[in-house]
Amino acid sequence: MMAPDGTFYITTPIYYVNDKPHIGHAYTTLACDVLARFMRLDGRKVRLLTGTDEHGQKVQKSALAAGEEPQAFVDAVSQNFRDLAGLLNFATDDFIRTTEPRHIRACQAIWQKMADTGQIYLGSYSGWYSVRDEAYFDEKELQVVDGRRLAPSGAECEWVEEPSYFFRLSDWQQPLLDFYERNPDFIQPESRRNEVISFVRGGLRDLSISRTTFDWGVPVPGDPKHIMYVWLDALTNYLSALGFPDTDDALYQAFWPCDVHVVGKDILRFHTVYWPAFLMAANVPTPRRVFAHGWLLNRGQKMSKSLGNVVSPKDLKDRYGLDQTRYFLLREVPFGSDGYISHEAMVARCNGDLANDLGNLAQRVLSMVAKNCNGAVPEAGALNDADTLLLDRARGLLPALRRELSALAFHRGLEAVWAVIGDANRYVDEQAPWTLRKTDPARMATVLYTLAETVRMIAILLQPFMPDAMGRMLDQLAVAADQRDYRRIDAASALVPGTPLPRPEGVFPRFVEAEEEAAG
Ligand code: ME8
Ligand code: MG
Repeated sequence: MMAPDGTFYITTPIYYVNDKPHIGHAYTTLACDVLARFMRLDGRKVRLLTGTDEHGQKVQKSALAAGEEPQAFVDAVSQNFRDLAGLLNFATDDFIRTTEPRHIRACQAIWQKMADTGQIYLGSYSGWYSVRDEAYFDEKELQVVDGRRLAPSGAECEWVEEPSYFFRLSDWQQPLLDFYERNPDFIQPESRRNEVISFVRGGLRDLSISRTTFDWGVPVPGDPKHIMYVWLDALTNYLSALGFPDTDDALYQAFWPCDVHVVGKDILRFHTVYWPAFLMAANVPTPRRVFAHGWLLNRGQKMSKSLGNVVSPKDLKDRYGLDQTRYFLLREVPFGSDGYISHEAMVARCNGDLANDLGNLAQRVLSMVAKNCNGAVPEAGALNDADTLLLDRARGLLPALRRELSALAFHRGLEAVWAVIGDANRYVDEQAPWTLRKTDPARMATVLYTLAETVRMIAILLQPFMPDAMGRMLDQLAVAADQRDYRRIDAASALVPGTPLPRPEGVFPRFVEAEEEAAG
């Protein structure tokens, strides 16, 4: 388990600017944002990086298709990805663009370091290339359909023959296998690790790392007819944003090596084979962990910009609400697996988990307090076993969340919280404070206090997932802004009896089908 101190550097992939962002991109950045917020609340100094991948043939082609100059095109599309942060409330610390001078400098520096150690040579490439994947493939990896060569992603490949610089990737087969052995947590989940290890065991060929048939990219130092392979360029972003090659930079000092690169499984090989090999070749320390999550599927196909079957993050937010969308995406699909999202599942989560289980709990407790306790935190008498048990369970969620979130098991973390929400709802029914009001008002006050204190801890713990909604819940409990971090999950920070509370308001409205939809 991660210690709740120190620094934490977490990155999203940098997204291609070939089209607008869709829910798949939002999904990855959301997971990173939740983990980053969790670590911040848990006392760590955190850096969350995202950005855009703006070079290469794929982007150049999209600019051409849009009838724009590449730079104007990437400026506009990159802004859409930047706007995603505002739309979905992502608290990112930096946004890197691969067309920025700080990045180009870092790319040329890493190239130079690899060249200095003899890891790069000039040759010529002839083979298959998928522009959509920006990846080279061996004949044996491809499927032939109607005479066309298709990559495993389904993208069509083209034959490329041109002078090219190569990286001696074949030399790194054994060092990589040793590296995976020494760092069993480097690739997660486990199934992905096995996949990568068997790929590397199958043998590695030297990798073409420059192209000469187009010019939208970073020029190779000393030979500018060559443009650096877009994946060498893109991966380097994780370093450029920390001031690399200036290793004295305060950011580099504090945050490299990276704690976790979160990626989709489509780009696993680049992050777990090429990237550590490039870094070892350049004598730069390797990142600690790469976590590859699954795909959000739309009618059985991976949603993708290239295929056009995408769901827009804005539509989800407008329809179901910001925090509902944030919660749903991380609760519905186990992080690491593929999964479907649907309107029915979304409504079930909004109304069941949020409006009923959590929303009603808070609303019932706070309105009973407002009516029966003069609108102030009630006075607790001696706690009985049932009270103590509930409070202990709520307090026990912090270590549980630390364990689950450090494994990026967001769904399991939320399951654990909802188990306690279920306990709290059963406790309300069993203790029946509405009956105690007449028979034993002092005991009623104790029960309501226990419940309000449980809601306080749950709301604090859920802030990373639903920052706005939990902020409003904590406002209603009059918890000061500086009393919302994870050190407050203890008895010493419990609600103070007599504290006046604002008038309670529901935080999670029920989703009601619009009439025309219900009819149609
Ligand atoms: O690959 N489900 O960029 P990209 C889940 N520029 N996640 C999805 C998804 C889906 N249907 N679709 C996309 C690139 N993603 C490179 C990365 S990093 C140095 C360079 C997410 O725009 C997922 O994280 O194609 C995936 O890995 C990423 O978007 C790919 O984004
Ligand atoms: Mg892609």
